[in-house]
Amino acid sequence: MSLSIAWIGTSVAVAAILAWATSKYLDIPKAHSSLEPPIFASKVPFVGHIIGLLVHGLDYYQMMRLPIYTLKMLNGKVYIVTSPELVTAVNRNPKTLAFNPFIAALGMRITGHDEPTSQIVQHNLNGEEGSGYVIDVHDSTVLALAPGPNLEAMLESLLEAVDNYLPHLQVGEVAEVDFFHWTRRMITMCSTRAIYGPSSPFVEHPEYCDLFWDFDHDLNTLMLNIFPYLLAPKGAKARATLGIAFQKYFENFDQAQGSAMTKARYASNTRYGITPWNQGRLEVGTLIGILANTIPSVFFMLAHIYSDPALLQEVREELEARSVSVPAIKISGRTLHAASLRDKCPLLSSIWQEILRFHAQGATSRFVREDVMLDGKYLLKKNMVVQMPMAILHLDPAIWGDDAGVFRPKRFLEDSCKTAKSTAAYRPFGGGTSLCPGRHFVTLETLALTAYILLRFDISPFNGPWAIPTPKQESLATNVFPPGEDIKVKIAKRGGYEDIEWAFEV
Ligand code: HEM
Repeated sequence: MSLSIAWIGTSVAVAAILAWATSKYLDIPKAHSSLEPPIFASKVPFVGHIIGLLVHGLDYYQMMRLPIYTLKMLNGKVYIVTSPELVTAVNRNPKTLAFNPFIAALGMRITGHDEPTSQIVQHNLNGEEGSGYVIDVHDSTVLALAPGPNLEAMLESLLEAVDNYLPHLQVGEVAEVDFFHWTRRMITMCSTRAIYGPSSPFVEHPEYCDLFWDFDHDLNTLMLNIFPYLLAPKGAKARATLGIAFQKYFENFDQAQGSAMTKARYASNTRYGITPWNQGRLEVGTLIGILANTIPSVFFMLAHIYSDPALLQEVREELEARSVSVPAIKISGRTLHAASLRDKCPLLSSIWQEILRFHAQGATSRFVREDVMLDGKYLLKKNMVVQMPMAILHLDPAIWGDDAGVFRPKRFLEDSCKTAKSTAAYRPFGGGTSLCPGRHFVTLETLALTAYILLRFDISPFNGPWAIPTPKQESLATNVFPPGEDIKVKIAKRGGYEDIEWAFEV
C-alpha cells in the first residue's frame, strides 16, 4: 500500500476532512482555546470553508495573512500553516503531527483493497511498537530510490524506452500532436518501464495507459467510496482492470527484473502476507505517486522552454557545451550524458527548480495525534488536521521577492533564491520524515527527457504564438496540476541537426 496512499496526505483540506469526518476520529472538542491559532471565520457554518475552497481554489488560503490560523470545517478544525518557521516546527514533530494516519483514513478508499489488508496497513502505523508494514515499505522505498547505481539503472531503462515514443521523422516531415496527451503517454510508458521492467503490464498492454488516467480522473469520486461503480464507473472499472494486471505481474514476479523500488515493495508485501490480489490493488495507488505529479511537471518544463526562443537557445548551448560529446568513431553522432545534467547544467537545473516552485501548488497534510504546543506558541488539538499550502509558501513575495508570482527561469541561479530554497519555504516534495523519496528519480528523469527532446526536436504551436495553458487541479492527490486545456503542436527534427544520430549515456 502505502506507497500507494502516501500521496494522499498531500491533498487539500476537503479530502482530509472528508476521510477524517467519516473515520473513527469523531471525538472532536467543540470549544476553541485562546491558545489555538486564531479562527478564520466563515458566515456559513460547517461547510463554509469547504465551499470557499471549492469556489476559490487555492486562492482561498491567501485570504488570511497570518503565520498560522484555524479553519472550522464540518465538526473539526484544520490549522493552516503559512510561515516557513512553523513548517519547520511541524517537521520536527513527526510522531505527533503525523503523515501516516491519512494512509489509514484514505487507503482503502483509493485502491479498494480488502479489510484484512487494511488491518495489516493500520497495524503499528505510527511505529508505536517498532516497525510495521507502512514503516517497512517507507524505509525500503527511501533506500531503493537513493542516489546511486539503482537510480542510474532506472534512468537507463527509462531512456532505452523513450525512442519508441518519440516521433520517427524524415527531414522536412512534421508530426502534429496534442502536447499534453503526447507527454503523458511517453512518460507513463517510459516511467513504468523503468520501474516495473520488461514484464510491466504497460508493455504488453499500452492501452492501460489510458485506463490509469480514467482512474486518476475519477479519484475524487472514488474516495467517497459510495457505490463506486455507479458514481464513477469508468474509474472503478479501470482500477479493477489495472489491479488484476498487477496481481498477475506480482504472481509471476521475476526478481531479475524490475527496479529496486519494485523489488523492495514486493519483499515487504510478501513478508507481511499481503495477497497478490491486494498487491495488485495497492500498486494502482503507487502509480499515482509515480506519474501524477511527474507528467504535468515535464509538460510545463518543455512548454516554458520551447515558448521562449532565447531561453531555448541558451539551454541548448549549455547542454552542448557541458553534457554532449561527439563519439570518436562517428562524426555525425552525438551522445548526451544524462546522469550528470543536474551538476553540469545550472540553467537547466534552475528551470526545473522554478517549475516546481511555480507549479507545485498543492498542500501537504499532517494529523494531530496528541495535543501539542507548536513552536512553544500555538496549541494544536488532538484529532485535528494541519495543512501547509505550497501555493502560499511558494508565491510569498516576502520570501521570493516582488516577482514571486512570475515564472523566472533563471531565479535559482541567484544566491538569494538558493538561500530561500534551503528553508521550509520550498516544499514541492513535502518535508520531514515523509519527504518524497521519488525526488531524485523525478529530477534525473525530467532533466534527461527534457535535454534529449530539446536537442533533437523543434516544437511549435500548430496555430499562432505559444500560450502556456493555465493549470487546473484535477485530482486531489496531485500537487503539480495538469493544464486545463491541451495545445496542438508541430514536432520536427531540429533545424540544422537533421543528420545527427543521437544516443545517450548514463
Ligand atoms: C514532480 C514529481 C513529484 C512531486 C511534486 C512529488 C511530491 C510529493 C509530496 C509533496 C509528497 C508528500 C510529502 C509530505 O507530505 O511531506 C510525496 C510523497 C511520496 N512520493 Fe513523491 N512526488 C513526485 C514524484 C514521485 C515519484 C516519481 C515517486 C516514485 C518513483 C514518488 C514517490 C513518493 C512516495 C513513496 C511518497 C510517500 C513518502 C512516505 O511514505 O513518507 N514521488 N511526493
